[in-house]
Amino acid sequence: MTISATTPVQATQPPTKTWSTVPVSTVARSTVNPIRQVIERLHKLVKDHQNASGGVALSTNEPISLSIGDPTVFGNFKTHPEVNNAVRKQLDSFGANGYGPSYGLLAAREAVARHCTTPAAPLTAGDVILTSACSGALEIALMCLAEAGQNILIPRPGFSLYKMLAVARGVEVREYPLLPERNWEIDIEAFSSLVDDRTAVAVINNPSNPCGSVFTKTHLQDILAVCEARQLPVIADEIYGDMVFGTSDAAGSDDEGSHDVSGIPPKFHPLATLTATVPILTVGGLAKQWLVPGWRIGWILIHDQRNLFSNVRQGLLDLTTTLLGPNTLIQAALPDIFQNVPASFYADTTAQLAQHARLAQRLLSQIPGLQVIVPQGAMYMMVGIHIQDFTGIRDDVEFATRLILEQRVEVLPGQCFDYPNYFRIVLAPPKDKLEEACHRIAQFCAKYYQV
Ligand SMILES: Cc1ncc(COP(=O)(O)O)c(C=O)c1O
Repeated sequence: MTISATTPVQATQPPTKTWSTVPVSTVARSTVNPIRQVIERLHKLVKDHQNASGGVALSTNEPISLSIGDPTVFGNFKTHPEVNNAVRKQLDSFGANGYGPSYGLLAAREAVARHCTTPAAPLTAGDVILTSACSGALEIALMCLAEAGQNILIPRPGFSLYKMLAVARGVEVREYPLLPERNWEIDIEAFSSLVDDRTAVAVINNPSNPCGSVFTKTHLQDILAVCEARQLPVIADEIYGDMVFGTSDAAGSDDEGSHDVSGIPPKFHPLATLTATVPILTVGGLAKQWLVPGWRIGWILIHDQRNLFSNVRQGLLDLTTTLLGPNTLIQAALPDIFQNVPASFYADTTAQLAQHARLAQRLLSQIPGLQVIVPQGAMYMMVGIHIQDFTGIRDDVEFATRLILEQRVEVLPGQCFDYPNYFRIVLAPPKDKLEEACHRIAQFCAKYYQV
């Protein structure tokens, strides 16, 4: 029989298989966010404790979260009105609604270059790639520089995305230690010893999440010396650049002064300003300094005075063509944002963070069993737990679990950053909430601390 256009085609073969659960890719399966994993474990422990016969009843205190690295959640940190004006102007112009170049609008890249350029590390628009947040910048930079079978160096404790991105793509991670007794400086010898001929790149995060540390110029030069000797390119994660403060002052007041223990205010040095030879991709974005993490605008700055990144530049551009660049509305607002936001806005943010840091440092360092590592920047503080002195508490996850149950205070266990028996607090909550949280932590510790 001939098949006419109207004859329905019958399946001649019986189906070879029936539907079953659709498999998921290796990349998806290997994408594991350790913070989510630890928090899920923590929440399960909270539930188990509540369900156990004779288990602990959840405290009726108002919950206070010191765990979320988003400065906007409590409403005390707001972006500057000029930031809103800049976006409103673009919205009303109907001029920023179309697709832009995948690597970013020219005017926006020029604005970032102007904002970030320095005499020692000059930038033009051609050295700037705009991305979907700093996370997008990290993904593109890492995918461009490292591949399966190679390894990358990342900090421990460190921001979890570095490991997530690498492991999901078959890239080995080698964690170099940060030393709490040295203000979280890198153990340079250990760092150097991890490099081999399969090492593609080192990730350096300064100021640090989760440590709140700020590296000195001398320390950054020591890091660069290793990179130079081993011909190791760097990804410099400087999303908290310029968010620097001291915490100790002679008067011990929570309201004034801003100096570190030596009396010298810490200073942020962009890594690229300290070398003319090591090729560096600096990643950053609007999220933290401009207090708009939800807007998802980030950037990559290509610092390459010896033209060692000529292929990498092309690779970065090629990788941007997948998503066709970040949100054009916010991109178009960047020139006005950089130009119109007064310096006092940035200074106010860091002054407030400094006050909060001093308050938390003063209150938490009085608690037996805890050890505060004094922060100097970003918006975090790491606190060590002498876990052996806390009866019936096994580790930092159990500490954080019981703290939620008994005091309704949420902190992030150090295991989220591959650093057990510490916890991280965020310094963003308003002073009264932070103070109340510290008092509750003190009560909690007093109950379990026994020496
Ligand atoms: C060190 C560090 N790098 C990158 C990011 C990602 O920033 P974004 O929200 O712009 O993706 C964060 C966010 O918390 C961070 O702490």
